[in-house]
Amino acid sequence: MPDIKRLQFTTIRQNPEAILADTLVLGVYEGRNFTEPAQHVDRLVHRRLSAFLADRAFEGRSGQMMSLLGLPGIKAQEILVIGLGARDKWNRAQFRKVQNAVMEHLSRTGSRTVINTLTAITERDILTGWSIRQTVEASYQAIYRFTECLGQNSKKTSFPRLERIHLVLAGSKISETDTRSAIASGTAMAHGIFLCRNLANLPPNIATPRFLAAEARKLAQSDPRFKLKILTEREMKRIGLNALLAVAQGSHEPPRLIVLEYLGQRSSSGKPIALIGKGITFDSGGISIKPAAAMDEMKFDMCGAASVLGTLKVVSELKLPLHVVGVVAAAENMPGGGAVKPADIIHTLSGHTVEVLNTDAEGRLVLCDAITYAQNQYQPQVIIDAATLTGACVVALGHYPSGLFANNDELAHELENAAIEALDPVWRLPLWHEYQDSLKSNFADFSNVGGRDAGAITAACFLWRFISKVPWAHLDIAGTAWKSGNDKGATGRPVPLLAQYLMTRAGRKL
Ligand code: BES
Ligand code: MN
Ligand code: ZN
Repeated sequence: MPDIKRLQFTTIRQNPEAILADTLVLGVYEGRNFTEPAQHVDRLVHRRLSAFLADRAFEGRSGQMMSLLGLPGIKAQEILVIGLGARDKWNRAQFRKVQNAVMEHLSRTGSRTVINTLTAITERDILTGWSIRQTVEASYQAIYRFTECLGQNSKKTSFPRLERIHLVLAGSKISETDTRSAIASGTAMAHGIFLCRNLANLPPNIATPRFLAAEARKLAQSDPRFKLKILTEREMKRIGLNALLAVAQGSHEPPRLIVLEYLGQRSSSGKPIALIGKGITFDSGGISIKPAAAMDEMKFDMCGAASVLGTLKVVSELKLPLHVVGVVAAAENMPGGGAVKPADIIHTLSGHTVEVLNTDAEGRLVLCDAITYAQNQYQPQVIIDAATLTGACVVALGHYPSGLFANNDELAHELENAAIEALDPVWRLPLWHEYQDSLKSNFADFSNVGGRDAGAITAACFLWRFISKVPWAHLDIAGTAWKSGNDKGATGRPVPLLAQYLMTRAGRKL
């Protein structure tokens, strides 16, 4: 896998006109309402900027852009004016949206050095440290390209030239230490997202359970605080992870249980925070095979796993003083002579027996054993799982928030707050015992599917049965982990959410 291209970030307090750069970015609200840095530049150039924008009917609508070349007194070669939309509607989401648009534009138009003044906007409850971090993340997102699998001839297409970004802070009182901390956390977040997206974008003939295990090993070797354990089929059989094994048994690819522990606390005695990821490297549906349309997207069925590894990368880069254990249940779900069949009954690690009524409900099967394993081995203080678990979650919530389920209100609120802080939205769905009836089986303790109704909830209810008295949250990321259509590809979610949750738990503000 490729290394991420490093970007240089520096902060400057004043006079953006004095800095040599390819592009100077200025923000203008709707109604040609200039931000402070834009006013400053306009005064320097004797109102030529405002006159030009008026002449071109530049209104400042959100995302509207206008480029000017060579203004006297301004060292930057180009001025890029970006519309910020209505000033009274300015908020965090709008900040990030505009910053994404700017950095994406610059990544396509060949800018190498940029002076970005949007970080100088201090409006509403948006803190400068937050803006810096989001700008760093937006810049890395803008230069992300997945070129791993292109042939020699197409690889020559130009890669973004972005190198250095000066973040203008103007009147902000933020300390030097805090700006450095914000840049560091933005960079770490970008690295975690980058790892997650790369793992998920790789094709399923490369990104197999064994490949994920090898990538986890690389990550483990990058920091002595990591401790890695990889269970192969033999060990899984010995221990009794039969649900995970059942999912894998129709495939030629052997499964792996990847256990990556991060010991960032001085005393290693504390109970860990467990992150559990669904790692189905390809979900064909098995014997209950899926239709052909969009089946290719089932290579993304390991996004939960990729996000757990991505999050652990962030934790390690930030050296968070936490004890975290990541458990990735990796398998390929295929039909085959030896595949698990509808009506098969499996004896899960927990002792519960499960009748497999649909082999396409495989995520909950690999997860239930991973959950039991984590509880038995680590007695975690909290469990959070991330899984591309149900199409029903996409029907319910679409592609904007991830579905959040929790057996504990405090944990749910912590995650909801982290989601807001990290701009990685979640929406809580109910976890009620009343739904459990739909998992009834005539032949085993329960079955692996409910009916058609409330599919995201009944899937969560299935997992819930394996949770033993510990605060637990389940993230159904089926609608948010990747995009379909023209910009098909992994989003890196929910790395921002999980990493933010852990940063907050570690008391790290920026
Ligand atoms: N990985 C899928 C869920 C999925 C489907 C995510 C489409 C995103 C897009 C999961 O393993 C699955 O197949 N779930 C079934 C469950 C059903 C058989 C109860 C589903 O959602 O149809
Ligand atoms: Mn499935
Ligand atoms: Zn699946």
